[in-house]
Amino acid sequence: MAGTLERLDHLLSRLGYCSRSEVRQWLRQGRIRLIHSEKFSYGSKVDPRDVRVDGEALDSPEALYLLYHKDLGTVCAHDDPRSIYNDFPQRWRYRRPVLSSAGRLDRETSGLLLLSDDGQWLHRLSHSRNAIPRRYLVQIDTPLPESAETILASGTLRLEGEEKPCAPAQLERLDSTHIRLTLREGRYHEVRRIMVALGSQVLRLHREAFGPYELGDLPPGGWRLLSTTEIHQEY
Ligand code: URA
Repeated sequence: MAGTLERLDHLLSRLGYCSRSEVRQWLRQGRIRLIHSEKFSYGSKVDPRDVRVDGEALDSPEALYLLYHKDLGTVCAHDDPRSIYNDFPQRWRYRRPVLSSAGRLDRETSGLLLLSDDGQWLHRLSHSRNAIPRRYLVQIDTPLPESAETILASGTLRLEGEEKPCAPAQLERLDSTHIRLTLREGRYHEVRRIMVALGSQVLRLHREAFGPYELGDLPPGGWRLLSTTEIHQEY
């Protein structure tokens, strides 16, 4: 089955491989090949699946969907020396539309992030209406009060400076200073601020899961592409 045809120079620049003018140079250098054709130029309409750059097949011409393990000390901004985007191929920085994450994790938070250049998919994941559960492992400095489970589940806890109470959340105590917390919304510094409201400070914060997505054995800084089934799974 043929894919959608696209001008070679447009395709490679849109996917971030090189600028449209560099395509001519890369062609002269023999870095670009087509599987099914010997004769082509920068303006030829090509099937993306037919193109090889330095012998490698192209990234998906439609959209990228990634599961990523954010390491401590990295940030979700694009323009920062500690950017998480340093962990992905350099060319993805030039891909259009841009690659972004579904929500953000703080610099001192590790764990699962979902990324894509499909804005609608990201929007669905982050929208409060969908109330997708985010599961965190949290180390705190002092044990939480006995009433913490009830307070969190009640949906009445107010964070400093906010009118609207937090959505109901689930607390599981692993030991006196380690908990598992499941939230269904993504407010700014939410876990840290909830812990302060309950009288504790966060020492370590890690996101284990986002909806049906789990980190598995991905190491910090590691990522993988999601399968078609994973991209479309219900949550
Ligand atoms: N809550 C926080 O406080 N920080 C995060 O990074 C995520 C949730």
